[in-house]
Amino acid sequence: MISVKTSEEIKLMREAGYLNYLTREYLKTKIAPGITTKELDDLAGDFITSHGGVAASKGYEGYPGNICISVNEEVVHGIPGKRILKNGDIVTIDIVVSLNGYHADAAETIAVGDINKEKTYLLHHTEKALYEGLSEIRNGVKLGCVSARIEGYAKKHHLGVVRELVGHGIGKSMHEEPDVPNYGTYNTGVTLKTGMTIAVEPMLTAGKRYVRLLNDDWTIVTQDKSPAAHFEHTIVVTDDGYEILTGERKNGQRS
Ligand code: MF3
Ligand code: CO
Repeated sequence: MISVKTSEEIKLMREAGYLNYLTREYLKTKIAPGITTKELDDLAGDFITSHGGVAASKGYEGYPGNICISVNEEVVHGIPGKRILKNGDIVTIDIVVSLNGYHADAAETIAVGDINKEKTYLLHHTEKALYEGLSEIRNGVKLGCVSARIEGYAKKHHLGVVRELVGHGIGKSMHEEPDVPNYGTYNTGVTLKTGMTIAVEPMLTAGKRYVRLLNDDWTIVTQDKSPAAHFEHTIVVTDDGYEILTGERKNGQRS
């Protein structure tokens, strides 16, 4: 069963989502050549805790970091450590905040200093693919429309679509039904309803789509070592569209 959240629950998820957004904005002021991924992870943990939240990835199925930090050919679930970010890298911060018992999950891939054209293109179009997918969402639409739209956009731009990892429903748990693949067929799958909360998260590669798991049992990398990008938002389905819960809070927006 896919849960439909009450307006009270959505309000709590909005709070969690806003803390996720603030954490990403804070980390972006710290991401620069010379910082280690462990230092970023510590900063993220302290920031989330000091705002009353919990870094929900920590301890999830034994995951050791506060957040996931993935560099260059690492697609997702990179473990923070001694690696020093250098000019020209791209780094994905993937953050799950829990606040008041509800989760908010978001990711973005950020340039470290000056990046080359291939990486610039990859980041631009992966973020665009997320918004293309989201644009399909409203009450009554089939989930396959979101998946197919992302896949179509990625293919049109000659980017690989990672298939082994998917988006997901989210709420009291980090991962709920349904799965949200980044490939699929229009007008198939479950029907989205107002009040459903899902995390949509295209993971695209500049090369082939194939990935493998590193020996640390967490980090997923591209097989051909091509760079990968990942953009994710937690959203709530509305009657005529969607609301991003992990984004900026605009003037006049409900809290
Ligand atoms: N943020 C990831 C997702 O998008 C999950 C993190 S896995 C964890 O679903 F083990 F690090 F928590
Ligand atoms: Co997610």
